[in-house]
Amino acid sequence: MNTSHRPVVIITGASSGVGLHAASALVARGWHVVAACRDTAKARAAADSLGLDRGSLTHLALDLGAQDSVRGFVRAFQETALPLQALVCNAAVYLPRLTTPGRSPEGYEISVATNHLGHFLLSRLLLPDLERAAGRPGSPAPRLVTLGTVTANSEEFGGKVPIPAPADLGTLQGLKAGFLDPVAMLDGKPFKPGKAYKDSKLCNMVTSREFHRRFHASTAIVFNTLYPGCVADTALFRDTPALFRTIFPWFQKNITKGYVTQELAGDRVAQVVADPGFADSGVHWSWGNRQKEGRQPFSQALSLKASNEVLARELWELSSLCVRLPG
Ligand SMILES: NC(=O)c1ccc[n+]([C@@H]2O[C@H](COP(=O)([O-])OP(=O)(O)OC[C@H]3O[C@@H](n4cnc5c(N)ncnc54)[C@H](OP(=O)(O)O)[C@@H]3O)[C@@H](O)[C@H]2O)c1
Repeated sequence: MNTSHRPVVIITGASSGVGLHAASALVARGWHVVAACRDTAKARAAADSLGLDRGSLTHLALDLGAQDSVRGFVRAFQETALPLQALVCNAAVYLPRLTTPGRSPEGYEISVATNHLGHFLLSRLLLPDLERAAGRPGSPAPRLVTLGTVTANSEEFGGKVPIPAPADLGTLQGLKAGFLDPVAMLDGKPFKPGKAYKDSKLCNMVTSREFHRRFHASTAIVFNTLYPGCVADTALFRDTPALFRTIFPWFQKNITKGYVTQELAGDRVAQVVADPGFADSGVHWSWGNRQKEGRQPFSQALSLKASNEVLARELWELSSLCVRLPG
């Protein structure tokens, strides 16, 4: 594998949907992609199905829901000695039909464990690798890009939808109580699986801002989030009822006009990773909710829930305890 002239990006969840198409768009831009997936055979087959050059990809196993796996992935990546230019925190689970909470090996509710705690641990452990890129002569500033979503930003209509409830971390009562059985929600309230997903995505956006505040000035790493549009036909919705999986894409295409293809969403991720216009840190990028031909990206305001610095500091400290890292 000769990656010497190619910038290297790790993409979590590159076996499907947005992550797979982001990998494709970055390979097309001349990047080498480390596909960090829980099923590497599936990830290889998915990359082959798009005809991606096998030499442009490295496949390493990562289960974000299991902290030992996250630590093992980081060790395996560091053994490759690849220089890291960008990390894309993309993988997620959405499990709206659980009646009782799933649990990670550590005992944490599985949506938050996977989408938030797994990425928090991964990002913390890879920070030194990104920082090294900042010191390489001629290298652009490294980037840590995280997928946010409209349903976790109450500034926007999609973030106000009360089904089952808007994202809300409260004062992190559940996390303060240890976040172990019987606690299943970050705010300590009764388990609502759809809200657990929204809360985990709100954590992603809060945490990215906190990374920015803590590390941007000293490391030059660019920390940002994006909403790529409503990619209503990805496997993210695999656990919703079949009727929903039919109606939702139709509704997004014809009524809200928020639908974007997986290819376009992947290309938007690639733009935020690679293009010079996205070099500002601490930004949440969006192309809006009603898709229009040629629409330009803009910096989207985040809700108070997502930009509350006191809450962000507390989330950082408590999440650090959960992943056994210093605060
Ligand atoms: N779809 C949308 O409308 C939309 C809108 C805004 C934001 N987003 C965000 O976009 C991102 C990608 O979603 P998507 O729509 O592309 O969904 P997707 O097709 O279901 O892709 C999710 C990816 O995450 C991986 N994953 C799940 N659990 C994992 C774990 N424990 N460890 C490692 N990887 C794991 C999946 O792996 P497997 O292939 O093994 O399942 C898959 O590769 C998510 O962060 C989502 O919140 C999506």
